[in-house]
Amino acid sequence: MSARAWRLVLLGPPGVGKGTQGRRLAQAFGVPQIATGDIFRNAVKDRTPMGTAAKSYIDAGKLVPDDVTIGLVEERLARPDAQAGFILDGFPRTAQQATALDALVQRKGLRLDGVIEIKVDAAEVIRRLTGRRLCAVCQTPYHLESASPKLPGVCDRCGGPLVQREDDDEKTVVNRLDEYQRKTAPLAEYYRGVGLLRVVDGNGDMDTVFARIMTALGAAVGPAA
Ligand code: AP5
Repeated sequence: MSARAWRLVLLGPPGVGKGTQGRRLAQAFGVPQIATGDIFRNAVKDRTPMGTAAKSYIDAGKLVPDDVTIGLVEERLARPDAQAGFILDGFPRTAQQATALDALVQRKGLRLDGVIEIKVDAAEVIRRLTGRRLCAVCQTPYHLESASPKLPGVCDRCGGPLVQREDDDEKTVVNRLDEYQRKTAPLAEYYRGVGLLRVVDGNGDMDTVFARIMTALGAAVGPAA
């Protein structure tokens, strides 16, 4: 849909809709959605060394250490499909990760095009997280009320079973929200300072939020996933 190579970051607390909108943006712009949480969950499932290192942090609702996470993103951004742009979903999440990302894109002679901060109120975040279900195979997110599958418990895309994420239990969610406030929320001011931040109201249905993001980017709205 767009000939432009978009390099975007999605920022926002757990459950705000980064994965949902990241998938739509990736489809609209023809670039990969790079979701660090998905990559970690796959590594845990496959019992790789990285997955083993990350598991205890994810289970506790804590951020995986920066060195592990930065190395993972460096490796992913070096792949051919990310050369024409990318949607970073869930990275950066700390000041050190943001600095590493700046250095990485500068080394390639590139720059980020924008950082989309999605905002919704706290009650809606909890509603979205507790009602979320995820395809165990392709990781497509669903919601029991607002994005239910055609067949209960079955992924529309690949037919895989829908499951609840282990870190969506109440105690872990509290930790994840706390980590976000302490370590990630301050990045919004950093990106505002360098002129990249676009704040988008994440309330409303998914099409409405997608249209707001496209407007914030100055891009035309096309068909979404
Ligand atoms: P990660 O997987 O990134 O989780 P998160 O940031 O907590 O975000 P979520 O995936 O929970 O939510 P989302 O914003 O994508 O919302 P979604 O679109 O699914 O990270 C998991 C863990 O990995 C971390 O805790 C950490 O341990 C580790 N990790 C990952 N990245 C890291 C990093 N950079 N550094 C260190 N550690 C890292 O939507 C939620 C629900 O709401 C869905 O059911 C959806 O259908 C529904 N929904 C979405 N939009 C709407 C809407 N407009 N209206 C109604 N419902 C909606």
